[in-house]
Amino acid sequence: MRSFVEESRFFGKQNPEELARTYGTPLYVYNEEILRDRMRTVAGLITKYPYTVNYSMKANSNTAILKIALEEGLSCDAMSEGEIRMLERVHFPYERIFYVPNNVSDTEMEYAVERNIMVSLDSLDQLDLFGKRFPGRECSVRINPGVGAGHHEKVITAGKHTKFAISMEDIGEAKEIAKRHDLKIVGINQHVGSLFMEIDPYVAAVENLLAASKHFPDLKLIDFGGGFGTPYHKLDGEGNFPMQDLHDALEPVLDDFVKEYGYAPLFKSEPGRFCVAEGAVILGRVYAKKSNAGVNYLGTDVGMNVLARPSLYDAWHDIEILRNGKAYTDGEYEKITVVGNICESGDKLATDRMMPVSQNGDLICVLDAGAYGYSMCYTYNARPRPAEVMIMADGSCRVIRRKETFEDLMALFTD
Ligand SMILES: Cc1ncc(COP(=O)(O)O)c(C=O)c1O
Repeated sequence: MRSFVEESRFFGKQNPEELARTYGTPLYVYNEEILRDRMRTVAGLITKYPYTVNYSMKANSNTAILKIALEEGLSCDAMSEGEIRMLERVHFPYERIFYVPNNVSDTEMEYAVERNIMVSLDSLDQLDLFGKRFPGRECSVRINPGVGAGHHEKVITAGKHTKFAISMEDIGEAKEIAKRHDLKIVGINQHVGSLFMEIDPYVAAVENLLAASKHFPDLKLIDFGGGFGTPYHKLDGEGNFPMQDLHDALEPVLDDFVKEYGYAPLFKSEPGRFCVAEGAVILGRVYAKKSNAGVNYLGTDVGMNVLARPSLYDAWHDIEILRNGKAYTDGEYEKITVVGNICESGDKLATDRMMPVSQNGDLICVLDAGAYGYSMCYTYNARPRPAEVMIMADGSCRVIRRKETFEDLMALFTD
């Protein structure tokens, strides 16, 4: 079996066993070089026209990662006031923040408007609410291009069955509402879904959004959304997302649009996962093995509270066994179900997976955990959230978020 940990030298000169002992498990470990590499790759998606990557920080809002995005020249999309506040903490310039909320109060909108952050409205009602409260302002609208994409019905955010965005048929009404409140629609955006590896649905959605753009004569920005996939099955040889192919496919589409529209507005993409997923692993410890009714279980401390994706979407994460700080790929293999320490039957990281026969005390290393990993952590069963550390480009290791403490968990009680 291959080992991504060895092939990519993910830990550099750090020893994962020592990291686990020093910081405890479960532990999120990031790699700065991989994060920067993926951000640079997506920054090359559109080269001929003005273009910005909006890093979608819902995937991972650790301030150390936001700082890397800032240094790499990326912008950010924020989904909530809390995310805007995190960006403020790292001094992200307001003109590089795009606020794309869903079903929020005008008070939450006000937090962005007061800071001159561009707001995208994702329904006729939200547009009306925005217009009543902030007449005369510039804003964006989120359009459903009618094409969805993604790895699971729960992450497809366009097409027929979705709560997101304004339908193409409602564009006329959106313009009416904007006129009523003297709003200037200067941006349109979309997000078709998350984790697709094939480019065709994205290109189709871009074409549809560009067609819709013609209803808006003075656009300053057109945001095509994110969703670019991550090879979660890399141990089986799955290849990278074909970013260059997407670049090549988009260029003629943009050429045609710019010719007809008369000028090139700022084009944006909005990826979260692509930027950060491969930049982190989770280290966990094996504490128990057992066999129940013919099923072999590997009991670890990486529960669904630490990585929610498998229980939420049946998501696959490659898992390696580490022994004495090295990938353990030798010896016999067994079919095993990897579980955590949470009181739920659904607390499974992997089901019936062929893995090297491991023993108590080994580490598991869960790959591609940088996106929707820590940002979806929770404290069920009163388990504090884990620490996050980063292997820096110079090989050193830095704590980028301390482990939550029991005191943190108690802090909100009033009795
Ligand atoms: C509006 C919007 N933009 C961007 C993203 C980022 O998607 P991904 O992390 O798959 O690139 C999402 C994800 O849900 C989203 O809802």
